[in-house]
Amino acid sequence: MSLKIAIIGGGSSYTPEILEGFIQRQATFPVTEIVLVDVKAGEEKVDTICQLGNRMIAEAGVNIQLTWTLDRRSALQGADFVSTQIRVGGLAARAHDERIPLKHGLIGQETNGAGGIMKAFRTIPVLMEIAEEMQELCPDAWMINFTNPAGIVTEALLNHSVHKKVIGVCNIPFNMRHSTAELLQAAPEDVLIRFIGLNHFIFGDKVYVKGEDRTADVFQKLLQKELDYNPANIMPLDWSETFIKAVRLLPNPYHQYYFQTPSVLEKDKQAYQENGTRAEVVQALEESLFALYKQESLRKKPEELEQRGGAFYSQVACQLMDSIYNHKEDIQTVNTWNHGAIPELPYDAVIEANCVITKQGPKPISIGEIPAPVRGMIQNMKAMEELVIKASISGEYEDAYNAFLVNPLVQDEKKAKLVLDELLEAHKDYLPQYNRM
Ligand code: G6P
Repeated sequence: MSLKIAIIGGGSSYTPEILEGFIQRQATFPVTEIVLVDVKAGEEKVDTICQLGNRMIAEAGVNIQLTWTLDRRSALQGADFVSTQIRVGGLAARAHDERIPLKHGLIGQETNGAGGIMKAFRTIPVLMEIAEEMQELCPDAWMINFTNPAGIVTEALLNHSVHKKVIGVCNIPFNMRHSTAELLQAAPEDVLIRFIGLNHFIFGDKVYVKGEDRTADVFQKLLQKELDYNPANIMPLDWSETFIKAVRLLPNPYHQYYFQTPSVLEKDKQAYQENGTRAEVVQALEESLFALYKQESLRKKPEELEQRGGAFYSQVACQLMDSIYNHKEDIQTVNTWNHGAIPELPYDAVIEANCVITKQGPKPISIGEIPAPVRGMIQNMKAMEELVIKASISGEYEDAYNAFLVNPLVQDEKKAKLVLDELLEAHKDYLPQYNRM
């Protein structure tokens, strides 16, 4: 029996992680073929990754055929799962998303605020194309999308593309669960955090270990600063006792942008001056990672990869594919259609939720109403995401402006225009919808 995976964006420095995941899961998820796909500019990188991957496969003694190609269509032909992990415009584009808003006194981040919106504008048209090709070449395949902003991208695809087998994934819920498990000295599979919200905007309202409610212990540890689930790209700014006690929700690392905006601005301004933006830090990290990958003696995923914010993403992806393939009906946190799980959000909105994973896809588990302190914010974020998707597709200036205006990290009508204009200019090579003649 064959089981084929296509990895779009296979030249990413993260790829050894997902390859390791497939190698380790051979007993339950017997992948026979993996094709790495990249664009011309990524040719050297994808070749390096493929060579390293083949050394990892040989070392593990498993039977997986690993190749790379620039021909996406041939890779998609007959695929069972397609992992999408692309960065349209590369790290240079990310640096604009980080630096331009900050120059105007706004948060400059690749998935939040103005930068996150621009990333969606660049990404959605490309992923729409991939979804169309999947419908033609591998209609039964699931797309597992990591490409940021993962929640927005997933909603755009589910509601506006022809291919409906799309699931968005992120490592944040995974990190929160695993760090909490470590803190409570429990096995991660015994820990359940009840999540509510959207990608990079989820909160945890309850923590259970084997069904026992341990929420109070977790809040206590958070107050004592003993719980840290920040990815490498986010320097934590601790939460105050009043915040934890009043809101009574576990924030995710990205919430600092919304609830601690002035402190983040100060921190980022200093960091960007000292070390460059995160894009520039990652650029240097990538160079040393690829130098390592080229070493013939390297036959496994190097630990240095954990310095990337998205570390452990592959465990999320591989676990998900394994559960779909084996119809495990276990609970995982993914981005999928709301379908009534959160009654205050639109039925067809995409939420990040605990879901039962079946062969037919994820089924979200309802946890009832959104807690009052964050209800308005989550609804506002969802409305903003809808506007982002509308603008990503229409290419209308006014739609883009509306998305900027209602984003809680912009909300200034003059700056919305200034920053939007500057970003549209900086990214013009990657915005076909905004450059129609
Ligand atoms: C986090 C996020 C990912 C994001 C990554 C960036 O973990 O959850 O969505 O891609 O950080 O990490 P980087 O190393 O590129 O800054």
